[in-house]
Amino acid sequence: MSDARPIGVFDSGVGGLTVIAALTRILPHEDIVYFGDTARVPYGTKSKETVTRFSVENIEFLMRKNVKLVIVACNTASSLSLDFLKRCFRVPILGVIDPGAKCAVSSTRNNRVGIIGTSATISSGAYDKAIKKINPRISVFGQSCPLFVPLAEEGWFNKSFTKDIAAFYLKPLKDRMIDTLILGCTHYPLMRDVIQAVMGKNVLLVDSAKEVAKEARIILDSSGLLKESHGVGRHCFFVSDEPGRFVKTARLFLRKRITCARKAV
Ligand code: DGL
Repeated sequence: MSDARPIGVFDSGVGGLTVIAALTRILPHEDIVYFGDTARVPYGTKSKETVTRFSVENIEFLMRKNVKLVIVACNTASSLSLDFLKRCFRVPILGVIDPGAKCAVSSTRNNRVGIIGTSATISSGAYDKAIKKINPRISVFGQSCPLFVPLAEEGWFNKSFTKDIAAFYLKPLKDRMIDTLILGCTHYPLMRDVIQAVMGKNVLLVDSAKEVAKEARIILDSSGLLKESHGVGRHCFFVSDEPGRFVKTARLFLRKRITCARKAV
C-alpha cells in the first residue's frame, strides 16, 4: 500500500521550518504542504481559545490541499489545541509534545527533565502531563524563554547578549540539576549551541522537531500511507501574509532558499 498525497504541516510562522528540515532528512520522498500563519504570529502569547480557532482554520486550509497527515509543528498550538483538533478532523493529526516527551523520558538518567518554550506552552503544562503519563516519578521543570524567538529570527546565535539572555533564562533549570532539556519551541533548535554551552555537555537536548519527524515516519509506515516513489519530494509553502519576510528568514531555518512561497487564498 502507498499514498502519494502530501503531508500537511502548519506553524504560527516560519519556525515550523525546523520540522520541515527534519522531515526532509527522515522522509525525503514525501511531498509536503506547509502553512505558516505569518499574519497572526506569535501564538506563544495568545489564549487557548484564539490559538485553537487559528489552528482549526490552518487545518481547514491544509485539508483543501488533500493532505494525508497533519503535523502541528507549533509547540504552542500542540500544547493548547491538539486534543480539540483531533476531535474535529478525521485526518490523522500529530503534535510535537508526545514525541518530545517520549524521547526525554527514555533519555533521562536522574529523572529530572527541563522544558523550555513560549509562555503559553510552559503555562499549559502539556509537556509535564505527557511526561508524567509515561513516568510519574520524573520531576519536570519549565521555563519560558520568549526572547529566543526574535533572537533566532534575527540570526543572532553567537552574540554576547544572546549568551547573557540564555544564561539568565536557563539558570533556574541548571540549579535544578536536570540532565535532559526539551527544546519545546520551533525556534529553539537554532539556538542549540548557545543552550548547550550554558547547560553544559552533560545535559542532553531533545529536539521536538526531530522527534515528531521520526514519529510521522512510524505512523505513515504502520498505516500504509508512505509514498512509494523514490524521487525527491515536492515542498509547497503557503503563508497568510506577504511572503517576503518569510522567504528571507526561511534561509536560517532550512539552510536553503525557498523560491515558491505563496500567500494563501
Ligand atoms: N511556533 C511557536 C512555538 O513553537 C513559536 C512562535 C510563536 O510564539 O508563535 O511555540
